[in-house]
Amino acid sequence: MTRILSVTSECVPLVKTGGLADVAGALPAALKPLGHEMRTLLPGYPTVMKALKKTRTVLTEDDLFGGPARVLEARVAGLSLYVLDAAHLFKREGSPYLDVDGNDFPDNPERFAALSWMAMRIAQDGAGGWTPQLVHAHDWQGALAPYYLKTNGVDVPSVLTIHNIAFHGLAPANRLASLRLDPSDFTEDGFEFWGQIGALKAGLQFATALTTVSPTYARELTTPEFGMGLDGVLRARSGDLTGILNGIDLEVWDPKTDPNIATYKTARGKGRAKARLRKEFGLPDADGPLAVVVSRLSHQKGLDLLLEALPAFIDRGGQLALLGSGDKELEAAFVKTAAAQANVAVRIGYDEALSHRMMAGADAILVPSRFEPCGLTQLYGLRYGAIPVVAATGGLVDTVIHASPMAMRSGVATGLQVSPLTAHALAATMVQLVDLFQDVDAWAMLQSNAMRQSVGWEASAAEYAGLYDRLTDSA
Ligand code: ADP
Ligand code: GLC
Repeated sequence: MTRILSVTSECVPLVKTGGLADVAGALPAALKPLGHEMRTLLPGYPTVMKALKKTRTVLTEDDLFGGPARVLEARVAGLSLYVLDAAHLFKREGSPYLDVDGNDFPDNPERFAALSWMAMRIAQDGAGGWTPQLVHAHDWQGALAPYYLKTNGVDVPSVLTIHNIAFHGLAPANRLASLRLDPSDFTEDGFEFWGQIGALKAGLQFATALTTVSPTYARELTTPEFGMGLDGVLRARSGDLTGILNGIDLEVWDPKTDPNIATYKTARGKGRAKARLRKEFGLPDADGPLAVVVSRLSHQKGLDLLLEALPAFIDRGGQLALLGSGDKELEAAFVKTAAAQANVAVRIGYDEALSHRMMAGADAILVPSRFEPCGLTQLYGLRYGAIPVVAATGGLVDTVIHASPMAMRSGVATGLQVSPLTAHALAATMVQLVDLFQDVDAWAMLQSNAMRQSVGWEASAAEYAGLYDRLTDSA
């Protein structure tokens, strides 16, 4: 039984802004049958504190980056948690990273340095009698943990997982002391990033091993196009970097038992769910395919390209239902398109239950991302027989088999890939989707292939377990 401390800024079911929360929430249960005990260190945001029932204080600090703090041990929804209760850092309105007006909290570097510092403290002294044999940190918010372990002489191996390299966790150089960083490491070989402090860079340099969430993204990260300035560091450490695909929770996402939908046992059951979804979105009946998007509305997700490609799809009889929030300009553009076009409907917001109903009722799910470390919604789509139409990038490549003539003939295709990603190519692929949809046999094959694909955690949890075993020599 290897003891692992996971360090994360989000975790389902307590707090989520994206897929990181799903991964952090699912890994502990997936690792358990493999003999690994994962506990999770999470900031005590108000929503997290409210969810705690029985707690025990296992560690205290008089001055954690500007105020007193304690670590509370608790169990929630099967997770063993260490919650960092530090009111001066986390007792705030807004999201985990942004204030109510949508601006970054100015002390974000310190807030998540504090989280990383406490991971080091738990590894150093233990918490309530439990000491991890390995620390597994996620993204820039956990990335100083490997650094603090090294600089405080705590001999525990660490893994850093990159979910999104777009966020570097930068801070001005004059915050070295307030972030408890050694000025002698403020170099190109350390955590210096173009004159600033880079938390993610520190993790990339100091973690024992690095992972990201798909094999293709692991390769892409070492290129200037995708590495976002850190490709050099990743090339230097490419021997320590592996890509391990995300899975999804097969109980939460099960079209046979999903309490959010009219359930169905095969793709044939989709008809009813689709009729309900059209009604819910106020879309007319139609013969063409109903495509959906469930996404953060950000540049990463390429949805500006979808706006451009949409007319060709709609002209051929397609329909679109979108659920998302984020970038205000994109929100407004989609709302405007929906107002002008009867076959486009949009919900701005975040709605977990509706996202299930959308996967259930959709013929297709669109994920035209510019980069996508893994992506989860195409996996939900596969499981619910909503054919993924994806950009040929990152984890989307590793999870969707393109319906080329050869793949169709061999009967293995599960979706469509767009390459290169331009509005024009996306439009062409969406027109191809309409044609495929009208070919009843071809569509039935795609759907049943998609629904048969294994998208759970089993294989990936075994890969993480293998990595932990290698690093702790306990194989
Ligand atoms: P990312 O982490 O980059 O946002 P992922 O595809 O890995 O992308 O994960 C996104 C997660 O957030 C999925 O579980 C998706 O269903 C969910 N999600 C995104 N936007 C919404 C929304 N508006 N309503 C409900 N769920 C959403
Ligand atoms: C990130 C990525 C997404 C990935 C998720 C979980 O937010 O954008 O592709 O699925 O993390 O690893």
